[in-house]
Amino acid sequence: MSPSGKPCQLVVCRGCCCGTKKKRPGVDHKGQLERLSGFEDHEGRRVPVRVSKCLGICFKANVVVVQPSAQGRAGGGRPVWLGEFTEDRLIDDLDDWIFEGGPGIAPLPDSLEPHLTSKNAKKPKKAKLGKKAKKAAAEADGATRKGADEARPGGEKGKKKKKAKKAKKAEKSAKAEKKAKNT
Ligand code: FES
Repeated sequence: MSPSGKPCQLVVCRGCCCGTKKKRPGVDHKGQLERLSGFEDHEGRRVPVRVSKCLGICFKANVVVVQPSAQGRAGGGRPVWLGEFTEDRLIDDLDDWIFEGGPGIAPLPDSLEPHLTSKNAKKPKKAKLGKKAKKAAAEADGATRKGADEARPGGEKGKKKKKAKKAKKAEKSAKAEKKAKNT
């Protein structure tokens, strides 16, 4: 096949979260970048890799964007955003896909499908608590607060403690008085 314009390109996010052990522990981020930088297409051209700052969807770290080749773009291919790109097997599948032509030329491998995302992806909201769960949480919170209040110096437990201390003091002074009288 004759050379046909620009090859596919990769944009690999290495911002505040992508490529960090803090966000994605247990991933060889450096090794991943090295492997992504070694891709070639079916025309034997090296696939350029651009390392980018945060692409704005950190909850999907690590993020990789596949830009179509000129031929792929002419065939309707558009940039493909992949998120949670952490497993080694995904690198192999991405390599194969780009070798076959990438966006606009070859179909996306099944294994990459669950990783499809976009620059407009929205962080999923935390699940809302139902009425019952809310009530239970409020009750548990109330019980904790009550316990804390009682333990406070002005609280129920604090008052009892103070009373006991006072009684002990009175007993002590009475003993001292008695002793003084006897001497
Ligand atoms: S660091 Fe990659 S999306 Fe923010």
